[in-house]
Amino acid sequence: MVKICCIGAGYVGGPTMAVIALKCPDIEVAVVDISVPRIAAWNSDQLPIYEPGLDEVVKQCRGKNLFFSTDVEKHVCEADIVFVSVNTPTKTRGLGAGKAADLTYWESAARMIADVSKSDKIVVEKSTVPVKTAEAIEKILTHNSKGINFQILSNPEFLAEGTAIEDLFKPDRVLIGGRETPGGQKAIETLKAVYAHWVPEENIITTNLWSAELSKLAANAFLAQRISSVNAMSALCEATGANVSQVAYAVGKDTRIGPKFLNASVGFGGSCFQKDILNLVYICECNGLPEVAEYWKQVIKINDYQKTRFVNRVVASMFNTVSNKKIAILGFAFKKDTGDTRETPAIDVCKGLLGDKAMLSIYDPQVTEDQIQRDLSMKKFDWDHPLHLQPMSPTTVKQVGVVWDAYAATKDAHAVCILTEWDEFKNLDFQRIYDNMQKPAFVFDGRNVVDSEKLRQIGFIVYSIGKPLDAWLKDMPALV
Ligand code: NAD
Ligand code: UDX
Repeated sequence: MVKICCIGAGYVGGPTMAVIALKCPDIEVAVVDISVPRIAAWNSDQLPIYEPGLDEVVKQCRGKNLFFSTDVEKHVCEADIVFVSVNTPTKTRGLGAGKAADLTYWESAARMIADVSKSDKIVVEKSTVPVKTAEAIEKILTHNSKGINFQILSNPEFLAEGTAIEDLFKPDRVLIGGRETPGGQKAIETLKAVYAHWVPEENIITTNLWSAELSKLAANAFLAQRISSVNAMSALCEATGANVSQVAYAVGKDTRIGPKFLNASVGFGGSCFQKDILNLVYICECNGLPEVAEYWKQVIKINDYQKTRFVNRVVASMFNTVSNKKIAILGFAFKKDTGDTRETPAIDVCKGLLGDKAMLSIYDPQVTEDQIQRDLSMKKFDWDHPLHLQPMSPTTVKQVGVVWDAYAATKDAHAVCILTEWDEFKNLDFQRIYDNMQKPAFVFDGRNVVDSEKLRQIGFIVYSIGKPLDAWLKDMPALV
C-alpha cells in the first residue's frame, strides 16, 4: 500500500488529503500537524474548518485510510510521498518584510523530513511558494540526506475556499512540476497515478518545476487582477451612471474575456491573493524588474482603494459622521460558505468605521466573536497600505458587539453594511429590519446581493457598488 503523509492540516492539507483518501482506497493517508487542538478537531465531530461537503468526506474515510495525527515524525518516516502544505504567510520583519513569503515553516518541515527519513521519498510542494523554492528545498534535503534519494515535485493547489470539495472532485487541472531527469519524470508519474484515480488524464498537466511554481502565483495574480479591474470600473460607473453588473455582463460575453470572476465587490480578501501578489512583486524586484513589480502592485492598491472608497461612501452619506451611530455589519468572512477571516475586507472596513467612532454590531453565520475581536485588535503589516491601521485600543474594540442574528444586529441601527455575500442575506425580511431601524435607514451593499429597488420601495437609502446612485447619495458625494 502506498503511504502518503501530509504536513499541515489546514484549509488545504485537510480537504485535499480527505479527497485523496476517498478517491484512492488503496492509499493510506496521514495528515499531521504540530497544532494539537487542530488535530483534535479533525478527529472530532466539529472539524476545524467549515467547508460544504467536507464533513461527509471525512466521515467516510477517517479511521479507514485517513488519519489525523500530531506524530509528525513517525508518519513522515513511514511515507512514500510527503506533501508539504504548511502556511507560507507574508514576512512581517527582516529582509523583504511586508512582501516576501515567510518560508520558516517550510524550511523547518524540510529539515525535519531530512532528519527522520530512512527511505527514498517524493516530497511534494503543496503550499504556494516563491518560484525556485524547490531548489532551496533540494539543497536542505540532499545536504542532510544520509544517502537517501529525494525527488521534489511542485503540485500547487488551486482550490478556492467555500467550494474546496467541489474543486477537488472536479479540478479544472492538476499541475505537477518536476525535474527533467529520469528520476524526476518517474516521480511525476507516481504522483500522476494518484490523481488519475479520479481526474481525467488530459486534465493533469506536467511541467518543469519552475513553471509549476510560477503558474500558481501567476494564476492568483490574474484572478485578483480581474476583480481589481472590475472594481476600478465600478468607481467609474458610479461617477457616470453606468451599471457595473451590466458592464461586466457585456464585457464577459466576449469569449476571450469570459463571465466568471467579474463581480464588483468591497474588495477581495482571503489568505492567498494579497500574499501571493506581494510575493510576486518581491520576486520581480529581486530579479531587477521594477516595472513589472509596479504593474502587479496596482492590483493591491486598487483593492485598498475600493475598501477606502466604501468606508468614505458610508460616512459621507450619513452626514459626514458615524460617531456613536450603531452600524450593523452583515458578514465578516472573506467570502460566503467559509468561516475564514484572513485578509477579509471586513477588517479594513470595520477599522475605518471604528476610526470614525461608529458602534458596530456584527453578525456572520460562521465567524465567532473571539475571532472578530482578535481580527479587529491585531496589527497588520503596513506596506503601502493606508487602510491597515494601527492596533485598536481596548476601548475601541468595546465599540464592537457580535450577535448571532441579522435582526439583532440591525435593531436600532442607522445603517446596514453587507460585507459578505451569504445567501441568507438575500432573503432577510427587510421590511422588519426597516421598521426596527433609525431613520433615515441606509443599506450599503458591498457585495451587490440585495434587490436595491425593492429596498428603496420600503424606504431605505441604498448604495450598491458600481450601480447608479440615488438622489441622496448624489447629493452627498464621497471624497476619496
Ligand atoms: P493553514 O494555516 O490553514 O494550515 C497550515 C498548517 O500547517 C497549520 O495547521 C500549521 O499548524 C501547520 N504547520 C506549520 N508548520 C508546520 C510544521 N513544521 N509541521 C507540521 N505542521 C505545520 O494554511 P492553508 O490555508 O492550508 O495554506 C497552506 C498553503 O497552501 C499556503 O502556502 C497557501 O498559500 C496555499 N494555498 C492555500 C489555499 C487556500 O484557499 N487557503 C489555496 C491554495 C493554496
Ligand atoms: C483563491 C483562488 O481562487 C484559488 O484558485 C486559490 O487556490 C486560492 O485563492 P480563495 O481565496 O479561497 O481562492 O477564494 P476566491 O473565490 O478566489 O475569492 C477571493 C476573494 O475575491 C474573495 O474575497 C471574494 O469575495 C472576492 N471576489 C471573487 C470578488 O470580489 N469578485 C469576484 O468576482 C470573485
